[in-house]
Amino acid sequence: MTAAPPTDGVLADRYGRVARDLRVSLTDKCNLRCTYCMPAEGLAWLPGPQLLGDDEIVRLVGVAVRLLGVTEVRFTGGEPLIRPGLVGIVAAVAALEPRPRISLTTNGIGLDRLAPALRAAGLDRVNVSLDTLDPQRFARLTRRPRLADVLGGLAGAAAAGLTPVKINSVLMRGVNDDEAPGLLRFALAHGYELRFIEQMPLDAQHGWDRRTMVTADEILASLRGEFDLTPDPAERGAAPAETWLVDGGPARVGVIASVTRPFCGDCDRTRLTADGQIRTCLFATEESDLRGALRAGADDDELARRWRVATWEKRAGHGIDDPAFLQPTRPMSAIGG
Ligand code: GTP
Ligand code: 5AD
Ligand code: SF4
Repeated sequence: MTAAPPTDGVLADRYGRVARDLRVSLTDKCNLRCTYCMPAEGLAWLPGPQLLGDDEIVRLVGVAVRLLGVTEVRFTGGEPLIRPGLVGIVAAVAALEPRPRISLTTNGIGLDRLAPALRAAGLDRVNVSLDTLDPQRFARLTRRPRLADVLGGLAGAAAAGLTPVKINSVLMRGVNDDEAPGLLRFALAHGYELRFIEQMPLDAQHGWDRRTMVTADEILASLRGEFDLTPDPAERGAAPAETWLVDGGPARVGVIASVTRPFCGDCDRTRLTADGQIRTCLFATEESDLRGALRAGADDDELARRWRVATWEKRAGHGIDDPAFLQPTRPMSAIGG
C-alpha cells in the first residue's frame, strides 16, 4: 500500500477501496417532510449562489467518469425531481464517454409525469421511497397527503421501463413496524424490488436512538412469519443491500443494515453535494470543496487531483458504535442518502 494519494487513475483510498459509484445530490429541498429526515417547517436551504449550475454538475460528473473511473451515477436530493434542469442533466451525463449507468433515488411525486422523458434522456432505473401503504399513516409520516402520487409514480416508472424499480422502506418502532409483510406483498404483486433500511443517525432533529431502531433481525423475523426467505446466490459486491429470495425466487427482498451489519469495508461510493462539496462517506465530518476550485478556473486535471486527494483520506468506517461518534452537521436531505 502506498503512503500518498495516487496522482492519476481511479479514486482509491488508503484501505484499498476504489470508488466507482458517484451519488450526486441535485437539491437539498423536498416536497415532503418525513419525520425521520426533516422538521415540519423545513430547514435553512442552501443559498442559491452556492448551488452548482446544471453545466457545473455535468462538468464534475464528466471529470469523475472520464478521468476517475466512475461507472455508476445516481442522482439524489432532497428530492431530485424538483430540480428544473434534471432531464437535461441526465441527457448530458448519458452522452459522456464511457457512458455511465444512471439511476435516481426519489420520493416518487411527479415521477408518473416525468418518467417517459427521463427514460428518453437515458435514465436507466429508479429507487422510490415508500414507508407505508396506509394513506393516513403516510400523511402523518411525511406530513403531506401524497400516497396516491407516490403509487402513481411507481407505476409510471415501471411503465416507462425504468426497471428494476426498487422501493426503499424505513421502519420505525410504533409507527410502521407492523407493515413489513404488507409492503412485501405489495412489491411482489407489482414486480417492484423492496428493500428495508435500518434508520441511521442522520435526521436534522438528532432524534435517532439506537435502542428504539428497528433492526435487520427484527425485519427478517417479521417477514419470515409469512414468507420463506433464502440467501440470494447472486454476488452482493459493494451493494448496501443484502438480499434474500422470496419463496424460492426469482423475487427478492433486501435489507440495508448500515447499523447492525455495516458494509463499509466494501464501500465503493463517493458523493457530490448540491453545493459542490465532495463527501467520501455518508457520515463524513469533513468535505472537500470542488465548487471553489471550479469557479476559480481549475482545469479538469486539477479537479480530478483534488477528488483523488479527498478520497485517499476516506475513513475506514462510519463509527456509529464508537462512543466518540458525531453525527455529521449536514442533514441527510442535503447529503442525498
Ligand atoms: P441500488 O444500487 O439500487 O441498490 O442503490 P442503493 O441502495 O445503493 O441506493 P439508494 O439511494 O436507494 O439508497 C438506499 C439506502 O441506502 C439509503 O438509506 C441510503 O442512505 C443508503 N446508502 C446508500 N449508499 C450508502 C453507503 O455508502 N453507506 C451507507 N451506510 N448507506 C448507504
Ligand atoms: N436512515 C435511513 N434511511 C434514511 N432515508 C432518509 N433518512 C434516513 C435515515 N435517517 C432514506 C429515505 C430514502 C433514502 C434516500 O434514504 O427513505 O429512501
Ligand atoms: Fe424528502 Fe427524502 Fe427527506 Fe423524506 S427522506 S423528507 S422524501 S429528502
